Parts: sequence; structure tokens; C-alpha cells
Amino acid sequence: MPLVTSTELFNKAYEGKFAIGAFNVNNMEIIQGIVDAAKEEKSPLILQVSAGARKYASPVYLKKLVEAAVEDSNLPIVLHLDHGDSFEICKQCIDDGFTSVMIDASHHSFEENIAITKKVVEYAHAKGVVVEAELGRLAGVEDDVNVSEEDASYTNPEQAAEFVQKTGVDSLAIAIGTSHGAYKFKGEPKLDFARLEKISNLIPNFPLVLHGASTVLPEFVDLCNKYGADIPGAQGVPEDMLKKASQLGVCKINIDTDLRLAMTAAIRKSIVENPNNFDPRKYLGDGRTAIKEMVRHKIVNVLGSNNFL
Ligand code: G3H
Ligand code: 13P
Ligand code: ZN
Repeated sequence: MPLVTSTELFNKAYEGKFAIGAFNVNNMEIIQGIVDAAKEEKSPLILQVSAGARKYASPVYLKKLVEAAVEDSNLPIVLHLDHGDSFEICKQCIDDGFTSVMIDASHHSFEENIAITKKVVEYAHAKGVVVEAELGRLAGVEDDVNVSEEDASYTNPEQAAEFVQKTGVDSLAIAIGTSHGAYKFKGEPKLDFARLEKISNLIPNFPLVLHGASTVLPEFVDLCNKYGADIPGAQGVPEDMLKKASQLGVCKINIDTDLRLAMTAAIRKSIVENPNNFDPRKYLGDGRTAIKEMVRHKIVNVLGSNNFL
């Protein structure tokens, strides 16, 4: 099976009130861990590549690794650009064979966001590629951009409906209180579900996307800290909130930080517990296994995308 777009996957997810996991990938072990879990749980996947990942691994390596994942698994896999910040990077990825791109022009004015998104949609659709855009701004750190809480803004429901209608975009990332990274809330976690419901009602049968959706499970933070890290007070989105979001039109849930924590904890543990080992296959292999178990947990207990095939 070749790479797929997310159109069919989102139709089924919307209908079935579950979500497809969009996992950030940066190297072979991460891709293999994710794909092994999805294979065993019979789940489709969105593998997403950020500008930082392209810089780290070089675009051609990631593309070839994802092609290997498709060949090895025979799963429906979407290759998606995460947070493309210009028409040019979206065009490059579309020309490179990505089946989905995100144009994130959320830092521009509403009108400019519409204009840039529309340009990407026209180019992408002519090549059979789907487009995600973002309206509203999440707080947190992505690449070199750090959006403070004061600069973050929730998505306006009426604007969201107008945006979708004017751009022809295929899915929309919304801001309802999540943020990127391991520090999402000061105090109690809280998402604006009333806003989500309003957006969903104004744009029926349309897939919404939740960024910044890692849960930051305490056991992984504790494990990192136990083996020499120092990440106090990390806090993510509770799993029941993610499940509730997928009942309300959220079809794509983005997860990166949880993979980073799982892999880092496992590698730290492996190195500390095997002081005489200097074969990278041992600790990278342990990191890969941790990714697999984290993704399995997400697919089965949070996303509900298992037994899809
Ligand atoms: O939302 C951003 C993702 O966590 C990717 O992070 O840009 O550091 O690769 P990155
Ligand atoms: P997390 O930092 O919560 O994993 O979010 C990842 C993300 O939104 C990637 O686009
Ligand atoms: Zn994101």
C-alpha cells in the first residue's frame, strides 16, 4: 500500500468518534517503535516531520525511512509536514511526495493567514495532497519559536467557520488551552470544551486537530528524573480530556513530547544500568522499545484507533 492522505482516515475517525495519532519522527528508532506498535494494534498512522526534524535528519533520510515503514507494515500511513511556516516549505514537501502538509500561518493576521493558507491549498490540491492550517495560537516552544502565555490566543469559533469556508482547507488546528512541550498548565489542567463544541457545531463533519496533546505521564517524568534529569513540575493534558475532545470533532491528536520523555527515560536508564555497555544498539534499542509501548498505550487507551483495518 502506498502512502495515503488523511481524508478517509478522518472520515472514519469523525464517524466513529475516535482520533488518529500524529507522531513526530526524527530518526529510525522512533519510526520503527511507532510503526511496530501500530502494526500489532492494526492502527493507521500519521507520521509527521517538523522543520527541525528535516534539519536534523536531512529530508531524504526521513522520506526513505517512512517509505521503508510503509513497505514493512502495509499500514495506511500519512506523511505529514508539521508546522510548515511558509508556502515554500509546504511546496517543497508536496514536491517531495508528502501526502499532507500543515501551513501554520497562525502568527499572521486573520486575512494574511487566509491568503497564505489558500495559496498552499490550491497548490496541494492540484497534486492530491491535503492541507491542515491553524487558527488561534498555542503557547509553548516549537523549534526556535517560544510563544508566551500572554501571546497565546484561543480560536474564535465564527472566524474558524469563515476561515474553513474561504480557504478550502482539509483540517484545522485549534487553540483551546493546550500548549507545546512538557509544561502545559500552571495549576489544574483546563481545556475550553464549550469553545470546541461551538467550533464543531459551526463546522459540522469537519476534522479538527489538537496540537500540544501530550499527557506527560508522571511515571516517565519520574523515570527521567531518577536517572539524572531535572524536569520538575512537568504537566500535560489528562487522557480523559483527549478522549472527550475526540468525541467533539477532533480527529488528529499530535504527540511529540510523550515520545521524547519515553525514549529519554529508557536511554538514561539503559546507560546507568549498563555502565560497561558502549554498543549504541543496546540503549537505542531500549529507547525504541519504550517508544513502541508508549504508542501502543496511546492507540489502545487514548486514541481508540486500534483494530481499524
Ligand atoms: O510542535 C512541535 C513538535 O513538538 C516538533 O518539535 O520542532 O523541535 O521538532 P521540533
Ligand atoms: P506535544 O509537545 O504536546 O507533544 O505536542 C506536539 C505537537 O503539537 C506537534 O505539532
Ligand atoms: Zn504542534
